[in-house]
Amino acid sequence: MQSVKIGILGLGTVGSGTVNVLTRNAIEISRRAGREIEIFQAADRDFDSPKGCKTDGIKLTTDALEVVNNPDIQIVVELIGGTGIARELVLKAIESGKHVVTANKALIAMHGNELFAKAQEKGVTIAFEAAVAGGIPIIKAMREGLAGNKIEWLAGIINGTGNFILTEMRDKARDFADVLAEAQELGYAEADPEFDVEGIDAAHKLTIMASIAFGIPLQFEKAYTEGISKIAQEDVQCAAELGYRIKHLGIAKETEQGVELRVHPTLIPHRRLIANVDGVMNAVLVQGDAVGPTLYYGAGAGSDATASAVVADIVDIVRALTTDPENRVPHLAFQPDALVDTPILPMSEVVTSYYLRIHTEDKPGVLANITGILSEQGISIEAILQKQPEDHDGIVPIIILTQEVVEKNMDAAISQIEALSTVKESVMRIRMESLG
Ligand code: HSE
Repeated sequence: MQSVKIGILGLGTVGSGTVNVLTRNAIEISRRAGREIEIFQAADRDFDSPKGCKTDGIKLTTDALEVVNNPDIQIVVELIGGTGIARELVLKAIESGKHVVTANKALIAMHGNELFAKAQEKGVTIAFEAAVAGGIPIIKAMREGLAGNKIEWLAGIINGTGNFILTEMRDKARDFADVLAEAQELGYAEADPEFDVEGIDAAHKLTIMASIAFGIPLQFEKAYTEGISKIAQEDVQCAAELGYRIKHLGIAKETEQGVELRVHPTLIPHRRLIANVDGVMNAVLVQGDAVGPTLYYGAGAGSDATASAVVADIVDIVRALTTDPENRVPHLAFQPDALVDTPILPMSEVVTSYYLRIHTEDKPGVLANITGILSEQGISIEAILQKQPEDHDGIVPIIILTQEVVEKNMDAAISQIEALSTVKESVMRIRMESLG
């Protein structure tokens, strides 16, 4: 049988990994796919600097359009990233009847609805396993393995850079900026590290998982995103004293009022398995009504690990080349005409519990004022911890854990606490989840 010819756009970290994995495991892969997979052509904007893979036998070009327009190529593998040129190339590839594999989370989260509709029209597939949690086959697990379940919620550590930073802050009491610089050197961080630390990268991935979990269109613009740059060493230590770890979680939950779609630092009980996912590793916890909780763990970034997901997608497409388009696994797990418009809840309507850190003057009545405000807003206290004054400056940190309350009530309480003359700094608020 003839080989299937693929074209790769971008020979950076993931592109080189894809060439390496396809070459190294060629025999194994063709035994699985039923056909040989040939890397026919590859495009990169710069062939002067060394690539992370051998390119012997591959037609090389600096013009990505050449690959997209090459009539011999059946599958275009987009590993450029971003939503500009990558979107145009993917649209052109679809237009010319080619299947697409991409690791581009921003592209899928922001333009997936348009791209999937086009792909549907043209009878081609866009595969994007590598866009979420690197090498962990979470898309396949939710789309196929959990197809019998009503998925109730999912929570994931889906940014390796952020998890690496929080782990190093906790284990080695290192500074945020110092750890971020190391993550950049190690190649985990996005070109713009704000995407990692401010939660944008995680929100892209969460948006994709939520659509697959609940059968809703992709709605990245409605995701609530909060980063980890304000987490202080003090919070990491206090959380530990109270039996919690701080993780940067992406959480999607279907409630009666709508879907919660939120990325923020979160206190989780240290005994949970996911609380022990450290360093650059990723993990996603999915709660299905039939199966209960399932946990998926692995490398969320890196050359070969992400290539593992890219190659799995290529194999899937090759296996289904002769299948009628309408009989293929739908892009978002649900048939396109069965997606539903469940509203995404604004953050002010989300119900959760909280960790509050309040720096206040050490005076009689201060605690009573704070607890009075919480009580007025219907907020019940779960635990309270008053630390020794720091640096003999008369300022005491008070840590309060609350029971569940709707976010708008907590917003109101925090504004009132911050208005107290004894409270000198903004209140630090970190949401808490039991993930039980
Ligand atoms: N910057 C991402 C991370 C890479 O740190 O997880 C994988 O998407």
